[in-house]
Amino acid sequence: MATEESLHMPPFVDGGAEALSWLRRMRDDQPLWADARGMYHVFRYDDVQAVMSDHARFSSNLGHFMPGFDAEQVSANLSLQDPPGHRQLRTLVSQAFTPRTVAALRPRIAKITRELLDSVPDHTFDFVEHVAYPLPVTVIAELLGISPGDRAFFRSCADALLGTQETATSAADQARALAEANKELHEYLSAEARRRRGDASSGLIGALAAAELDGQRLTDGQVATLSGLLLTAGHLTITLLLGNILLSLRDNPGVESRLRGDRLAVPAAVEETLRFRPPFHRVVRVTTREVEIAGGVIPARRVVMASTLSANHDDRQFPEPDRFDIDRHPIRHLGFGRGIHFCLGGPLARAETEIALNLLFDEFAEVALAGEPVFHDTEFYGPKQLTVSVRRSADNTLCTAKK
Ligand code: HEM
Repeated sequence: MATEESLHMPPFVDGGAEALSWLRRMRDDQPLWADARGMYHVFRYDDVQAVMSDHARFSSNLGHFMPGFDAEQVSANLSLQDPPGHRQLRTLVSQAFTPRTVAALRPRIAKITRELLDSVPDHTFDFVEHVAYPLPVTVIAELLGISPGDRAFFRSCADALLGTQETATSAADQARALAEANKELHEYLSAEARRRRGDASSGLIGALAAAELDGQRLTDGQVATLSGLLLTAGHLTITLLLGNILLSLRDNPGVESRLRGDRLAVPAAVEETLRFRPPFHRVVRVTTREVEIAGGVIPARRVVMASTLSANHDDRQFPEPDRFDIDRHPIRHLGFGRGIHFCLGGPLARAETEIALNLLFDEFAEVALAGEPVFHDTEFYGPKQLTVSVRRSADNTLCTAKK
């Protein structure tokens, strides 16, 4: 049994060391745990995987826990849907967001990354602020077809949405603050959907506006919800993954020089980082009925948190789980989830991080972390500030970067 004082997961402010040892204890001693708010938590790989995979018992229909989101927004948000509605929405988004769409974006991702790397300050820069944060929001803006003149507005909406996450004091406050931040973006995206009807070539917004569900077009509001979901699901997650990769390189001397010499190993380093430091560290479900799991019972209609971070460090699944090892094969990590809600943006996330890491190696002969990173608190797993020292490949000038 966990003791009273250990009854919460320590925040990630120290980079995750305390949280990881707390999670290890929970996996071993209390694999099913109800917190003081009545939410249930599972920690072992098999249990986390079961929660993600069994949508009949663990529903994603969390809409009624989100005051302020109207019914249309909830019903069009595929991450909050169960079958059959989920399958319809997912098919529709998958049709618009194809592997070909991602492949076609690769040259643009490289160009945006080069521009960002070219314009980092010479002496002091925060890798998150100058590269890892702007890259994915710019890519998603392009993917959706946001016009260049609206990019600053779009980014300010993303900032507002993300800014709400860690200031709220309760889950209900957080949901309300999120709904407020979401409102402005939703109105903008709805207007864009209306404007682009009949022009399927104008980015993903146009493609979604032209798509049909059971012979019916999506409403402007539904298009806006799906477009907004792609922004919220695919922005900070990539920012964090990029930062987490640099942390993995810092902590594992030798890996960077190996990757610089063998670029074909870069995807394995990205994958191992998704296991070792998954940005999205847990998923949330609600039980549809009483469920037996992890040696205990969860009553019906209870919120369940499944810790992907814990599952990815479970020695029942991964030998020496606390060792960062890019030679693991296969890496069946849960960083992108599992089951019907498996991350739709995985190929884009992999493309962006692989391109960014390769270009970082090309551009800079040396990249070293300087000073202590500043981490997100509880909602996300990864750094929000990451100071780097770099030496450009071309001119050998040492640039020391600070926060
Ligand atoms: C490193 C980057 C990313 C990580 C770690 C990540 C992680 C995840 C995880 C764990 C889930 C499953 C959530 C659940 O089961 O409740 C998920 C779902 C999803 N992700 Fe990602 N994601 C990333 C990037 C992206 C990108 C770039 C996009 C799109 C632009 C995206 C779009 C989505 C969508 C739409 C879903 C919901 C799918 C569904 O419900 O069927 N993600 N992601």
